[in-house]
Amino acid sequence: MNIRECVKMRHSVRAYEDRPIDTKAVEDLKVMIQQCNREGDMHFQLIQDEPKAFSSLLAKYGKFSNVKNYITVVGRRRDDLDDKAGYYGEKLVIRCMQHGLNTCWVGGTYKKVKEVIDVGHDEKIVAVIALGYGQTMGSIRKSKKPEDVFDGKSSRISRYEDTPEWFKKGVEMALLAPTAMNRQKFTFAISGDRVKIKSGFGKFTKLDVGIVKYHFEIGASPKEFVWA
Ligand SMILES: Cc1cc2nc3c(=O)[nH]c(=O)nc-3n(C[C@H](O)[C@H](O)[C@H](O)COP(=O)(O)O)c2cc1C
Repeated sequence: MNIRECVKMRHSVRAYEDRPIDTKAVEDLKVMIQQCNREGDMHFQLIQDEPKAFSSLLAKYGKFSNVKNYITVVGRRRDDLDDKAGYYGEKLVIRCMQHGLNTCWVGGTYKKVKEVIDVGHDEKIVAVIALGYGQTMGSIRKSKKPEDVFDGKSSRISRYEDTPEWFKKGVEMALLAPTAMNRQKFTFAISGDRVKIKSGFGKFTKLDVGIVKYHFEIGASPKEFVWA
């Protein structure tokens, strides 16, 4: 599957088969994690065969089952931590799809298992990404429409239908991105080759924006626009 197909196929999956991740996929993910850590100044870690983070009642209530593998989203405390965490975390999510692995971003319903996660004194755990071979491929959910997330007042073009094709493709991919509680609290504005994304208020909205940015870039590619 190419990246766009992966984006279209991805849905959150919370119940996994009881089998280990293919060795080749593990090797590739570890390389990709190193790259993301370097580029994004992050400290993602792949945790394998660790059932404790998802064995609480809360996790079961959240419909998680057989989660034994996950990526911890850890990084140095700073202003753009959530943005980078979302952007590079979603890059890893889409890479998982390329290996036939399903995923789910998890901000709340997991336990921080201190003995397996390496968190430096100036770092924090932002979230985790559960992964594995899903019992299903997940399902299509409700979504806002492109017009709902277009901020015509802050754009040089006021009507969504008049925006260029690359922008529309970016917005379409952005609406397929996972967001906390499927809130999709973001808006896009366009001025020439500059795109501005604004986040709403609330927990995880900055993390959501990082995720959404990665999706937008995939949709808009190969257009070379700039984030304003
Ligand atoms: C930052 C973030 C935090 C999330 N936290 C949780 C969580 O704690 N529990 C859970 O079951 N799902 C969680 N999700 C998954 C969302 O509910 C899911 O992405 C959303 O409903 C959209 O569905 P989709 O991923 O299938 O497109 C989280 C997603 C994001 C992006």
